[in-house]
Amino acid sequence: MFSKVARRTFSSSVPSAYKVAVLGANGGIGQPLSLLLKLNTKVTDLALYDLRGAPGVAADCSHIPTNSTVKGYSPENDGLASALKNADVVVIPAGVPRKPGMTRDDLFNTNASIVRDLAKAVAANAPSAKVCIISNPVNSTVPIVAEILKSAGVYDPKKLFGVTTLDILRASRFISEIAGTNPAHEVVNVVGGHSGVTIVPLLSQTQHNLAIKGETRDALIHRIQFGGDEVVQAKDGAGSATLSMAQAGARFAGAILNGLAGEKDVIEASFVDSPLFKSEGVEFFSSNVTLGPEGVAKIHALGELSNAEEALVKVAKETLVDNIAKGVNFVKQNP
Ligand code: NAD
Ligand code: LMR
Repeated sequence: MFSKVARRTFSSSVPSAYKVAVLGANGGIGQPLSLLLKLNTKVTDLALYDLRGAPGVAADCSHIPTNSTVKGYSPENDGLASALKNADVVVIPAGVPRKPGMTRDDLFNTNASIVRDLAKAVAANAPSAKVCIISNPVNSTVPIVAEILKSAGVYDPKKLFGVTTLDILRASRFISEIAGTNPAHEVVNVVGGHSGVTIVPLLSQTQHNLAIKGETRDALIHRIQFGGDEVVQAKDGAGSATLSMAQAGARFAGAILNGLAGEKDVIEASFVDSPLFKSEGVEFFSSNVTLGPEGVAKIHALGELSNAEEALVKVAKETLVDNIAKGVNFVKQNP
């Protein structure tokens, strides 16, 4: 009796109640991301899935006194399907990370099939969920998920997101180090994709447009484009960014939940099925997106660009066409 009353009181005090599933929850990103999602009060049901170890991560997180239940799932007993059932949001950081000397594209051979198989499970068990892809190479894994959802007849371009938030975080941080400002107050629009030259920071749109110039500006752009390499090298074979990525993933998933809850003016950049450059054959592109109850509510144009930025975007588009085709062709050849 007491527990029923307690549960009713508990649920009526929660303004928005959502189930979030993390696939790859025992990984370097998955663990701290699960922790941060446990702290998000909009999450009432947190489902943690991994090939191994997720029940342990779930038991650990479950002792934190926030208003969610946490459950861990393994492949046994159809754990993936159970983790996904009724999920509002699915976040996927499953897959291998880079080692020094590798590009993100070098991860394709391993991660493409991991993401493909998880996407099939999403199509079967959570066809209406908002799906956030962290697994690299994002420029190719997002098209893979789109193709799988299309073949299952459940693709909704408004509901599929490549997570590029870490580039936004880095841009704010790195620009503040040069300008001597508080990074929390730095807003930098970063567009394109999530690897090397496809990452295009639009510095001309920042408050420091004219102040950061010449070699300093070029070095800043390069650092934002190749920030991931700094972490890969510093970790020296032990993986890539995990903690900053967990923060980025939690911020992005939080924005998705805010949009779901009907909050106004929820805007984050994301690599989405985008009309911006479709006429040039670029099916997916990252730019600011307004998020709403259905997922993507509006895809923002890039805004005014300098000549140098126009040139960077051109290079990004050329590379993206190849990256996207690689994902699409993978599914054609390995359905
Ligand atoms: P990790 O090796 O520490 O963790 C990966 C986890 O995925 C492991 O726990 C593993 O068991 C799990 N996994 C593998 N196959 C799985 C499957 N089929 N089902 C469920 N779980 C599975 O790696 P990490 O450091 O957490 O990185 C994960 C991925 O995220 C990598 O591909 C990395 O490149 C990428 N990444 C992306 C960004 C970004 O900005 N989008 C940033 C950092 C890392
Ligand atoms: C990052 O940007 O840190 C991630 O994409 C991981 C990587 O391989 O660099």
